[in-house]
Amino acid sequence: MTDYKEKFEKMKIAGNLAAKTLDMLTENIKEGISTDHIDKLGYEFIRDNGGYSAPLYYRGFTKSLCTSLNHVICHGIPSDRILQEGDAVNVDVTAIVDDHYGDTSRMFCIGKTPVKLNNLIDVTYESMMRAIKILKPGIKLGDIGYEIQSFAEEKGFSVVRDFCGHGISTTFHEPPNILHYGKKNTGMELRPGMTFTIEPMINSGRYDVKMLNDGWTAVTKDKSLSAQFEHTLGITENGYEIFTESAKGYSKPPYL
Ligand code: MF3
Ligand code: CO
Ligand code: CO
Repeated sequence: MTDYKEKFEKMKIAGNLAAKTLDMLTENIKEGISTDHIDKLGYEFIRDNGGYSAPLYYRGFTKSLCTSLNHVICHGIPSDRILQEGDAVNVDVTAIVDDHYGDTSRMFCIGKTPVKLNNLIDVTYESMMRAIKILKPGIKLGDIGYEIQSFAEEKGFSVVRDFCGHGISTTFHEPPNILHYGKKNTGMELRPGMTFTIEPMINSGRYDVKMLNDGWTAVTKDKSLSAQFEHTLGITENGYEIFTESAKGYSKPPYL
């Protein structure tokens, strides 16, 4: 059963471009630049490497990627906001190549960041990786949510409920929803050939969300800090394949 092989090859090309965009940004994100500058660099890099930025004009979004700072949970809109020492920003890149999508995000720290924020970022990354490592045919969607929720809550953090991972292939967002909380052995069973994202949003305080008037920016209602990482991946005959791995080994900060 390898009827999904071609889909996986194409998704790996799109995923690699999205990951390479974040690798490039790693060397450019620093104190004093604006989030609009990150957007411009990302837009140009994806265009110059044979792809399109999926967020641009997606459902009225006007930028090419998302920049979510500090207490912004997700879908932050790039602006003239200047990055300052102590900020942490999630940059979420989605590239389209040959009609296939690759969607990935990482956290970036500006200068020295508070210990609690660094801990939140570490726990968020590890919660995603713990969920990825159990992936194989036969496990259920609830098992993914359980891995993330049990680990994050044990560390004293909370899992955002209002946004989730998603199926992805030749469309940006498709079924199934991948919840980042849940119970073991519940929900749809995974099958070879499935492609989706895992993108936990973890808050240092409560999980409640507030939407800003721009219609996109989601922030923590209690103004606590929030972190997120995202990979696009596929289920194989006996495990999984990550399509958005960094070729430079940039997984989480600090990127040395
Ligand atoms: N990349 C986001 C995700 O992980 C979606 C961003 S939609 C946008 O699903 F319009 F805000 F860009
Ligand atoms: Co996504
Ligand atoms: Co994304």
